[in-house]
Amino acid sequence: MADNELVKNASSLRRLRSSRWVRELTREVQLSESQMIQPLFVVEGLRAPESVPGLTGVHRETPESLLRQVEADLERGVRKFLLFGVPAEKGERDFRAPFLGSQIRAIKTRFGADLFLATDVCLCSSTVHGHCGVLSESGDHVVNDATVSELSRLAGDFAEAGADCVAPSDMMDGRVAAIRGELARRGFGGALVMSYSAKFNSSFYGPFRVAADSAPKETRLQDRATYQIDPARPSDAHLASLRDAREGADILMVKPAMPYLDVLAALSARIELPWAAYQVSGEYAAIEVLAREGLIARERAHLETWTALRRAGASMIITYGAREARQLLRNSAEGGLL
Ligand code: PBG
Repeated sequence: MADNELVKNASSLRRLRSSRWVRELTREVQLSESQMIQPLFVVEGLRAPESVPGLTGVHRETPESLLRQVEADLERGVRKFLLFGVPAEKGERDFRAPFLGSQIRAIKTRFGADLFLATDVCLCSSTVHGHCGVLSESGDHVVNDATVSELSRLAGDFAEAGADCVAPSDMMDGRVAAIRGELARRGFGGALVMSYSAKFNSSFYGPFRVAADSAPKETRLQDRATYQIDPARPSDAHLASLRDAREGADILMVKPAMPYLDVLAALSARIELPWAAYQVSGEYAAIEVLAREGLIARERAHLETWTALRRAGASMIITYGAREARQLLRNSAEGGLL
């Protein structure tokens, strides 16, 4: 039908907005807690769980509280997790991450196939300088290949410990191929690789860096601009995602989510792999802070942003609010929030 004619037929668009029941019937995207992934932080040497500024309901966990939290999450219908480990001692190279390995093992021993466990693979919580890789002698850049071999060894260790999925977030070149190779060599070719393929150099990672103790501290290299994607370079995100798909990534990602909805919409239409949208810590915290100031309705705002991510093509959403999703959706169905 020609556009003009469509417009004529659709001149009374308000009929389809007139009741909650019609609105429900005409929705083009659906939200469910089954599409959500809950990030978890576990911190070596921590005595008691600590809350994270801005991230309501999220804690830096001890090994004990981590298991309790996962159990509570399972009861709320959350079965997919992204685990971040924060080691007690930081180093410069030859990372092994036995602490995170044992947390993965503990979760999988206790809960097994009742959940899907992805593990973030990066060095920023492990390095003395807070960068995502091995720093050059002069401290002015992150060395690509040395970092890639550290990451692939760690990814192999995490798969061996039982992780269902490894998720490299470092942004080095060639890490997906190297990780796939390492997984195959060690007999874990069935583990998924979720690549943070379109990860931008964003200012929205603030609360996360507190939780993961991972802010860059090196004076000669103060930010991540030489390895994360420039916000004004969507083509870089496209190339990196195509490359990672070719190198064997099973799932691709756009991160942050809301400020990069255009990237998510374009890339998910072009590359037919499942796409994850990571609603990062600063995005989540922004809603929390606005709600606390009484300026927006918290629950509706979360549901609205998640809806936007699904609309733009995300099949899964990584959000700090995953563990509240079922309740929010229930409240919304009962109260007609959306
Ligand atoms: C580590 C990493 C970061 C996030 C996930 N993995 C932060 C960064 O690149 O500094 C951010 C997640 C968030 O803000 O919620 N490379």
